[in-house]
Amino acid sequence: MPKIVTEFTKMVGVDYPIIGAPMFLISYEELTVAVAQAGGLGAFPLPNYRTAQDLASALKKIREKTDKPIGVNIHLSGRFEWKEQLALCLNAGVTFFITSLGDPRLILDDVHANGGKVFADLISLDQAKKAADRGVDGLVAVASDAGGHCGSTPTIILVPYLKSKVGLPVIAAGGVSTGAQMAAAIALGACAVVVGTRLIATDESRALPAYKQAVVAAGPEDIVCTDKITGNPASWLASSIKDFRERPEIGSKRWLDLWSAGKSVAQVDEIKPAADVIREIVDEYAEVCKAMSLTLDE
Ligand SMILES: Cc1cc2nc3c(=O)[nH]c(=O)nc-3n(C[C@H](O)[C@H](O)[C@H](O)COP(=O)(O)O)c2cc1C
Repeated sequence: MPKIVTEFTKMVGVDYPIIGAPMFLISYEELTVAVAQAGGLGAFPLPNYRTAQDLASALKKIREKTDKPIGVNIHLSGRFEWKEQLALCLNAGVTFFITSLGDPRLILDDVHANGGKVFADLISLDQAKKAADRGVDGLVAVASDAGGHCGSTPTIILVPYLKSKVGLPVIAAGGVSTGAQMAAAIALGACAVVVGTRLIATDESRALPAYKQAVVAAGPEDIVCTDKITGNPASWLASSIKDFRERPEIGSKRWLDLWSAGKSVAQVDEIKPAADVIREIVDEYAEVCKAMSLTLDE
């Protein structure tokens, strides 16, 4: 299988423009390693590790299994500790950082000094311009299609919009579970895609078995976007938050029982190893590119 070359793969040094989404309570070392070994960029969110010691141990396990590039999602709002965590990541050779909330300038110099890149999660042109002014290397366009916290504009509109108005590399986050969907995102101008929902239903994800099954069973009509759970709009499997809406007093319901996923559950039909998911996306991408070129009658 040939590599897929984009601005992102050249920048980061991976074979495919696929980031295994950093997902709260889902992406830990197993999924990160599986995606990295399959040629994508494995990633996890720092808040998945409660202490710096937990993070150090996870990074050690990852580095025992892969020397490929990996990424992390770092929250800079002040709600989570990040300084010691950043140093641990840089020491472990983490070269790709996706910032959420907060000011990316807090980490830019340190990451750049270590040869890494900083992209910012954002949902609008205003946020994108602000991030660009602050010197980020690129943008992660979090669309309305995305699992987790989502934007209000679909991938098919948001990616070309940010790309043309801001000019920085744009990564599409939202609605990509298949190779055809990745081809669409690349056609729109994205240099890579973040795949979240599809990877929930993998052997290496830490989602509960019933959560994985629910993602497989769900269709897009089973996903609701609401700000009632976290205070910000996010996409959820409606069945998992039914009680939450009907009985607000169960606010203490365990996070593990609140199941986030995006509308691309539509394309998730089976639980399988993450490497198979990546390979299938790449195979289908190649087929779609060939088929698209055949539509030209020159
Ligand atoms: C269960 C779940 C948890 C997520 N947690 C995070 C997170 O902690 N940090 C983050 O940057 N993005 C998080 N996301 C968003 C993903 O990184 C990514 O933007 C999104 O999943 C892409 O859309 P898709 O689900 O349609 O593939 C999460 C997504 C899901 C589905």
